[in-house]
Amino acid sequence: MRIKDFKLEEYFAKYEFNVKYSLCSSDCESFSVDELLTLEKDSLKDLKEVWLGYTESLGNPLLREEISKLYSDIKPEEIIVFSGAQEGIFVFMNVLLKKGDHVIVQYPAYQSLYEIANAIGCKVTKWIMSDENNWELDLKFLESNIEKSTKCIVVNFPHNPTGHLISKENYEKIIKIAKENDIYLLSDEVYKFLEYNKADRLPSACDLYEKGISIGVMSKAFGLAGLRIGWIATKNKALFKKIASFKNYTTICNSALSEFFSILALRNRDNIINRNLDIINKNLNLLDNFFNKYKNIFYWVKPIASSIAFPRLIIDTNVEAFCFDLIKEKGVLLMPGTKYDYGDHHFRIGFGRKNMPKALKKLEEYLEEKY
Ligand SMILES: Cc1ncc(COP(=O)(O)O)c(C=O)c1O
Repeated sequence: MRIKDFKLEEYFAKYEFNVKYSLCSSDCESFSVDELLTLEKDSLKDLKEVWLGYTESLGNPLLREEISKLYSDIKPEEIIVFSGAQEGIFVFMNVLLKKGDHVIVQYPAYQSLYEIANAIGCKVTKWIMSDENNWELDLKFLESNIEKSTKCIVVNFPHNPTGHLISKENYEKIIKIAKENDIYLLSDEVYKFLEYNKADRLPSACDLYEKGISIGVMSKAFGLAGLRIGWIATKNKALFKKIASFKNYTTICNSALSEFFSILALRNRDNIINRNLDIINKNLNLLDNFFNKYKNIFYWVKPIASSIAFPRLIIDTNVEAFCFDLIKEKGVLLMPGTKYDYGDHHFRIGFGRKNMPKALKKLEEYLEEKY
């Protein structure tokens, strides 16, 4: 398979660990091993007993059981665990899609959600969102772009990079359209549980539809990206079997230690999610004030969920030049929208980390000096 460079990940590889402040990371504040172990009384003893041989290919049964509790009607047998959401997306697309298939993808998007389909030789239609429309999706566009060869619709709520969350009513309409046309629905739900208002939380695609595939991960709401644990949940037995079989050519099974820590974190999920939502809420308040103050420089649509947003520069400056200069002058990293192939004025900002207020201060200093 020939596949294009992953622009966002290459940018992170170059800068993430060389700048003082990352102000565009999408994951929430992480934990040290020590912090995680304090979540339960006997956890250190349990950790010392973890066996470091090969693990079960579909995932540790205890982990699959904990993951299944995140859904309303999914059994542990309907979960397969991967090394991150990224592996799940890669395997799913390779199993389902073939050259000539048509795929409709909500856009802008995390690149793997369309690039793998492109590399397979699919026809990809971008279902484009715009901040002028508050990032709302046009359902008529979806309906009118379905073709005989449409195999899959790809959605991502809460959305990377906008922090948008569709209404329940419209989400159900997407599922209805997929059902009526017998199309698979890949629902990337890696930012789930980061809704600012719990009542906005969407049901999972795997709970609602036989051909619904939900992707989840420990990286975002749980802040445990370094564990590299993600999963696919689906009721579709035939697809599940093929996905499990393909995994034997990617990672075979997961890291035993990562599975151990994921089980521990999921057993204490409310604790972890509330801690991270608390950080997000405080940071979002600061951001709202910031964008209000600098209305002459930015256009800001306040997100509805997640730890990221996608503001736009309204001054006549190319966003890459703006971001590079900011790194050079203040050591602050923003993600230019060019890494999403989405024009040259948007940028992604991240606010799930504890040091975000310091990074924002540096950005403010920069604006005061330059504009
Ligand atoms: C929408 C989306 N899907 C999938 C992934 C991949 O997650 P992971 O790095 O945990 O595999 C990301 C990571 O940023 C993402 O934003």
